[in-house]
Amino acid sequence: MAVRIAPSILAADLGKLVAEVREVVDAGVSVIHIDVMDGHFVPPLSMGPGHVKALRPAFPDAVLDVHLMVQRPHEHVAAFAEAGADIITFHEEADTDVAETIAQIRLAGCRAGVSVKPKTALEVIEGIDLDLCLIMSVEPGWGGQAFIEGALERIAHAREMFGADAEIEVDGGVDASNAAACAAHGASLLVAGSSIFGQTDRAAAYRAIHAAAMG
Ligand code: DX5
Ligand code: ZN
Repeated sequence: MAVRIAPSILAADLGKLVAEVREVVDAGVSVIHIDVMDGHFVPPLSMGPGHVKALRPAFPDAVLDVHLMVQRPHEHVAAFAEAGADIITFHEEADTDVAETIAQIRLAGCRAGVSVKPKTALEVIEGIDLDLCLIMSVEPGWGGQAFIEGALERIAHAREMFGADAEIEVDGGVDASNAAACAAHGASLLVAGSSIFGQTDRAAAYRAIHAAAMG
Protein backbone atom coordinates (compact mmCIF):
# COMPACT_ATOMS: atom_id res chain seq x y z
CA MET A 1 0.00 0.00 0.00
CA ALA A 2 1.23 3.50 -0.77
CA VAL A 3 2.13 5.33 2.40
CA ARG A 4 2.02 9.12 2.47
CA ILE A 5 3.85 11.43 4.83
CA ALA A 6 2.03 14.53 6.10
CA PRO A 7 4.45 17.17 7.42
CA SER A 8 2.92 19.10 10.34
CA ILE A 9 3.36 22.86 10.07
CA LEU A 10 3.28 23.09 13.87
CA ALA A 11 7.06 22.65 13.65
CA ALA A 12 7.50 25.11 10.75
CA ASP A 13 8.73 28.69 10.95
CA LEU A 14 5.43 30.54 10.53
CA GLY A 15 7.25 33.61 9.21
CA LYS A 16 8.34 31.49 6.25
CA LEU A 17 5.34 29.19 6.13
CA VAL A 18 4.71 29.12 2.39
CA ALA A 19 8.44 28.85 1.54
CA GLU A 20 8.98 25.99 3.98
CA VAL A 21 5.92 24.11 2.76
CA ARG A 22 7.09 24.71 -0.84
CA GLU A 23 10.35 22.90 -0.03
CA VAL A 24 8.56 19.73 1.02
CA VAL A 25 5.94 19.90 -1.74
CA ASP A 26 8.73 20.20 -4.31
CA ALA A 27 10.28 17.10 -2.72
CA GLY A 28 7.04 15.13 -3.29
CA VAL A 29 4.77 15.85 -0.31
CA SER A 30 1.07 15.83 -1.20
CA VAL A 31 -0.55 16.15 2.26
CA ILE A 32 -0.02 19.00 4.74
CA HIS A 33 -1.07 18.52 8.39
CA ILE A 34 -2.45 21.54 10.25
CA ASP A 35 -2.72 21.25 14.06
CA VAL A 36 -5.45 23.34 15.65
CA MET A 37 -5.39 23.77 19.45
CA ASP A 38 -7.87 25.79 21.51
CA GLY A 39 -6.31 26.11 24.97
CA HIS A 40 -9.10 23.92 26.39
CA PHE A 41 -9.03 20.46 24.82
CA VAL A 42 -5.25 20.83 25.03
CA PRO A 43 -3.49 23.61 26.97
CA PRO A 44 -1.76 25.46 24.09
CA LEU A 45 -3.20 27.65 21.38
CA SER A 46 -1.91 27.12 17.86
CA MET A 47 -3.60 27.79 14.53
CA GLY A 48 -6.93 28.59 12.96
CA PRO A 49 -8.75 28.78 9.63
CA GLY A 50 -6.48 31.66 8.57
CA HIS A 51 -3.55 29.25 8.24
CA VAL A 52 -5.59 26.97 5.99
CA LYS A 53 -6.70 29.96 3.95
CA ALA A 54 -3.09 31.09 3.52
CA LEU A 55 -1.97 27.67 2.27
CA ARG A 56 -4.94 26.93 -0.01
CA PRO A 57 -4.07 29.19 -2.99
CA ALA A 58 -0.33 28.56 -2.63
CA PHE A 59 -0.81 24.77 -2.83
CA PRO A 60 -3.97 24.13 -4.85
CA ASP A 61 -3.14 20.45 -5.40
CA ALA A 62 -2.12 19.56 -1.85
CA VAL A 63 -4.44 17.80 0.56
CA LEU A 64 -4.91 20.10 3.56
CA ASP A 65 -5.34 17.79 6.55
CA VAL A 66 -6.79 19.69 9.54
CA HIS A 67 -6.45 18.10 13.00
CA LEU A 68 -8.82 19.75 15.45
CA MET A 69 -7.66 19.42 19.06
CA VAL A 70 -10.55 21.56 20.26
CA GLN A 71 -13.68 21.25 22.36
CA ARG A 72 -16.99 21.43 20.49
CA PRO A 73 -15.34 20.86 17.07
CA HIS A 74 -18.74 21.08 15.33
CA GLU A 75 -18.67 24.84 15.99
CA HIS A 76 -15.60 25.20 13.74
CA VAL A 77 -16.23 22.81 10.85
CA ALA A 78 -17.79 25.44 8.55
CA ALA A 79 -14.91 27.89 9.03
CA PHE A 80 -12.27 25.29 8.17
CA ALA A 81 -14.22 23.94 5.20
CA GLU A 82 -14.67 27.46 3.83
CA ALA A 83 -10.95 28.14 4.33
CA GLY A 84 -10.17 25.19 2.04
CA ALA A 85 -9.62 22.13 4.25
CA ASP A 86 -9.84 18.72 2.52
CA ILE A 87 -9.81 16.53 5.62
CA ILE A 88 -11.19 17.57 9.01
CA THR A 89 -10.35 15.31 11.95
CA PHE A 90 -11.73 15.84 15.43
CA HIS A 91 -11.38 13.97 18.72
CA GLU A 92 -13.86 11.45 20.05
CA GLU A 93 -13.05 12.86 23.50
CA ALA A 94 -14.06 16.40 22.54
CA ASP A 95 -17.47 17.57 23.59
CA THR A 96 -19.41 16.60 20.46
CA ASP A 97 -21.83 14.17 18.84
CA VAL A 98 -19.44 12.06 16.76
CA ALA A 99 -21.88 10.84 14.08
CA GLU A 100 -23.44 14.29 13.66
CA THR A 101 -20.06 15.96 13.35
CA ILE A 102 -18.93 13.44 10.73
CA ALA A 103 -22.12 14.14 8.77
CA GLN A 104 -21.53 17.88 9.06
CA ILE A 105 -17.93 17.57 7.81
CA ARG A 106 -19.03 15.53 4.78
CA LEU A 107 -21.86 17.91 4.02
CA ALA A 108 -19.29 20.70 3.98
CA GLY A 109 -17.44 18.77 1.25
CA CYS A 110 -14.56 17.38 3.34
CA ARG A 111 -13.43 13.91 4.38
CA ALA A 112 -14.16 13.18 8.03
CA GLY A 113 -11.60 11.86 10.47
CA VAL A 114 -11.93 10.82 14.09
CA SER A 115 -8.98 10.71 16.49
CA VAL A 116 -8.38 9.07 19.82
CA LYS A 117 -5.80 9.97 22.45
CA PRO A 118 -3.32 7.26 23.53
CA LYS A 119 -5.29 6.23 26.62
CA THR A 120 -8.72 6.10 24.98
CA ALA A 121 -9.94 2.58 24.21
CA LEU A 122 -10.34 2.10 20.46
CA GLU A 123 -13.66 0.40 21.09
CA VAL A 124 -15.26 3.81 21.60
CA ILE A 125 -15.05 4.39 17.83
CA GLU A 126 -15.83 0.85 16.73
CA GLY A 127 -18.51 0.72 14.05
CA ILE A 128 -18.35 4.43 13.28
CA ASP A 129 -18.65 5.33 9.60
CA LEU A 130 -15.58 7.50 9.14
CA ASP A 131 -13.15 8.30 6.30
CA LEU A 132 -10.03 8.47 8.43
CA CYS A 133 -8.98 7.21 11.84
CA LEU A 134 -6.15 9.12 13.50
CA ILE A 135 -4.20 7.22 16.12
CA MET A 136 -2.28 9.55 18.44
CA SER A 137 1.19 8.23 19.23
CA VAL A 138 1.80 11.03 21.78
CA GLU A 139 -0.52 12.93 24.12
CA PRO A 140 -1.92 15.70 21.92
CA GLY A 141 -0.83 19.27 22.55
CA TRP A 142 2.86 19.50 21.73
CA GLY A 143 5.27 18.61 18.97
CA GLY A 144 8.63 16.99 19.59
CA GLN A 145 7.50 14.25 22.00
CA ALA A 146 8.70 10.63 21.90
CA PHE A 147 6.65 8.04 20.00
CA ILE A 148 4.61 5.81 22.33
CA GLU A 149 5.41 2.25 21.21
CA GLY A 150 1.96 0.97 22.17
CA ALA A 151 0.59 2.99 19.26
CA LEU A 152 1.76 0.30 16.83
CA GLU A 153 -0.70 -2.27 18.17
CA ARG A 154 -3.43 0.36 18.07
CA ILE A 155 -2.67 1.12 14.41
CA ALA A 156 -3.01 -2.58 13.61
CA HIS A 157 -6.25 -2.74 15.60
CA ALA A 158 -7.65 0.32 13.77
CA ARG A 159 -6.71 -1.17 10.39
CA GLU A 160 -8.55 -4.36 11.29
CA MET A 161 -11.53 -2.39 12.59
CA PHE A 162 -11.98 -0.07 9.61
CA GLY A 163 -10.78 -2.27 6.75
CA ALA A 164 -8.42 -1.96 3.83
CA ASP A 165 -9.99 1.16 2.31
CA ALA A 166 -9.84 3.39 5.39
CA GLU A 167 -7.13 5.95 5.86
CA ILE A 168 -5.28 5.14 9.08
CA GLU A 169 -3.18 8.09 10.21
CA VAL A 170 -0.57 8.14 12.98
CA ASP A 171 0.50 11.36 14.68
CA GLY A 172 3.27 12.16 17.12
CA GLY A 173 6.95 11.32 17.34
CA VAL A 174 7.12 9.80 13.86
CA ASP A 175 10.58 9.81 12.27
CA ALA A 176 12.76 7.66 10.01
CA SER A 177 13.39 5.20 12.86
CA ASN A 178 9.75 4.17 13.36
CA ALA A 179 8.10 4.98 9.98
CA ALA A 180 8.60 1.44 8.68
CA ALA A 181 6.97 -0.07 11.77
CA CYS A 182 4.00 2.34 11.45
CA ALA A 183 3.50 1.33 7.82
CA ALA A 184 3.95 -2.36 8.56
CA HIS A 185 1.25 -2.17 11.23
CA GLY A 186 -1.17 -0.63 8.73
CA ALA A 187 -0.76 3.14 8.81
CA SER A 188 -1.29 4.82 5.44
CA LEU A 189 -0.68 8.44 6.49
CA LEU A 190 2.21 9.39 8.77
CA VAL A 191 2.33 12.85 10.37
CA ALA A 192 5.84 14.20 10.88
CA GLY A 193 6.45 17.58 12.52
CA SER A 194 9.86 18.08 14.11
CA SER A 195 11.42 15.26 12.11
CA ILE A 196 10.80 17.35 8.95
CA PHE A 197 10.29 21.05 9.74
CA GLY A 198 12.71 20.85 12.67
CA GLN A 199 15.50 19.82 10.29
CA THR A 200 17.74 22.10 8.24
CA ASP A 201 17.28 20.07 5.06
CA ARG A 202 13.54 19.49 5.12
CA ALA A 203 13.40 17.89 1.67
CA ALA A 204 16.04 15.33 2.62
CA ALA A 205 14.30 14.67 5.94
CA TYR A 206 11.02 14.05 4.11
CA ARG A 207 12.67 11.72 1.59
CA ALA A 208 14.34 9.70 4.38
CA ILE A 209 11.06 9.18 6.24
CA HIS A 210 9.20 8.36 3.04
CA ALA A 211 11.85 5.88 1.95
CA ALA A 212 11.78 4.24 5.39
CA ALA A 213 7.98 4.00 5.33
CA MET A 214 7.94 2.48 1.84
CA GLY A 215 10.54 -0.09 2.92
C1 DX5 B 1 0.55 16.93 18.55
C2 DX5 B 1 0.14 17.22 17.12
C3 DX5 B 1 1.11 16.66 16.13
C4 DX5 B 1 2.46 17.28 16.18
C5 DX5 B 1 3.44 16.24 15.79
O1 DX5 B 1 -0.46 17.29 19.40
O2 DX5 B 1 -1.11 16.67 16.83
O3 DX5 B 1 0.59 16.70 14.82
O4 DX5 B 1 2.62 18.37 15.31
O5 DX5 B 1 4.71 16.73 15.99
P1 DX5 B 1 5.96 15.75 16.07
O6 DX5 B 1 6.06 15.04 14.76
O7 DX5 B 1 7.09 16.69 16.33
O8 DX5 B 1 5.72 14.79 17.19
ZN1 ZN C 1 -1.72 16.53 14.62
